[in-house]
Amino acid sequence: MQKLSIHGGVPLSGEVRVAGAKNAALPILAASLLSAAPLRVANVPNLNDVRTMIELLKRMGVKAKVQPHAVELDASSVDEPVAPYELVKTMRASILALGPLTARFGEARVSLPGGCAIGERPVDLHIKGLEAMGAKIAIEAGYIHATAKRLQGARIFMDTVTVTGTENLMMAACLAQGETVLENAAREPEVVDLARCLIAMGARIRGEGTDVIVIEGVHKLHGAEHAVMPDRIEAGTFLAAAAATRGHVRLAEAPVASLDAVIDKLREAGATVKTAARSIEISMRGRPRAVGLRTAPYPGFPTDMQAQFIALNCVAEGTAFVTETIFENRFMHVQELRRLGAHIEVEGNTAMVQGIESLAGATVMATDLRASASLVIAALVATGETVVDRIYHLDRGYEKIEARLAELGARIARVS
Ligand code: EPU
Repeated sequence: MQKLSIHGGVPLSGEVRVAGAKNAALPILAASLLSAAPLRVANVPNLNDVRTMIELLKRMGVKAKVQPHAVELDASSVDEPVAPYELVKTMRASILALGPLTARFGEARVSLPGGCAIGERPVDLHIKGLEAMGAKIAIEAGYIHATAKRLQGARIFMDTVTVTGTENLMMAACLAQGETVLENAAREPEVVDLARCLIAMGARIRGEGTDVIVIEGVHKLHGAEHAVMPDRIEAGTFLAAAAATRGHVRLAEAPVASLDAVIDKLREAGATVKTAARSIEISMRGRPRAVGLRTAPYPGFPTDMQAQFIALNCVAEGTAFVTETIFENRFMHVQELRRLGAHIEVEGNTAMVQGIESLAGATVMATDLRASASLVIAALVATGETVVDRIYHLDRGYEKIEARLAELGARIARVS
């Protein structure tokens, strides 16, 4: 199993280009199922989850021409509208096939995603929404089996803000008969990016980026080209790493407008952050100050940045309270950070982080994608060597992370 060996203590310095967004690429790739004409997607990050999504589509009969950071998908002949257990268990985002398959083929079998490291993560709202559009849904042998003639537009209220739930229902509604209104929809930039791709394919969508999305169904969608937005969580992770190491880093191709909550907290921590249209420059002189935060759906502080900010708070001056409101078990990194000497107490959904001068290297284990990112940040500031084990979690969301951090001066290597 591969590991990362990191010798901390070097302030990050230099420039890094932000990659395409994983959580925008995944629904956009799934959207190819909605049309018989090819969808060409550019700025696709080269990640395990993206490869899994392409593999999933290929098994259904989609033809995929994969190039570096681009893929052309042709779903003109889909013969197996199935997302099998062995792929869904490695990637929950496989659920994004459910809406498009049901809408275009009138049938889908998608393995029911189980719980995961960060929480229970039910998909009841995806199912309820499709049922409201007239789909019949049965749970059979661990699979969600959806059938429908043509989906019908509906008013759908989601009592919890769900990102992939909104995406699934928005895709399904594109081919439904009549108008669908999604209320309490997710406002995440990735939802907006998907909507833009669907609109380029001929979908009639308005209100994306607000909590009411209205979709007027059409008979069919056509081919299109779409470039995936840059990854705001990858960008935020580099910014947090720069702040923690007291470095000076410039991000090119950054999704600036989608990072307001994160940049606000970095400034509160004492960083100087300058933004331009597509770039962000951060510099941190001296020790960061502790910053309290509470995760919330967009435009609130992203749950996908919570772990990285706990790492930053570990070496900050003062005590911070970090409250996680989206997932019920997203503090798995805390135990591992304690192995590096961090002072953190968790009570309910709040972590109290007491900053200390420095962390000390140890072997730590990644438990999920963002937890592993927080361990890398902590390792970059720790004295001595830190070995981060189980980095396949990290490879799901960060492309060539060690090479890019090494370019910023980090002493980091991948070891077997
Ligand atoms: N929820 C329900 N019922 C549902 C759907 C969701 O109760 O039918 C609950 C969840 O259990 C959770 C909350 O709603 O408590 C929000 O979950 P959401 O559905 O928004 O999460 P998701 O769509 O499964 C996406 C990202 C996650 C990110 C969350 C929150 C993708 C592929 N995944 O997940 O990304 O944390 O939104 O922003 O877009 C990551 O990249 O590390 C990651 C986990």
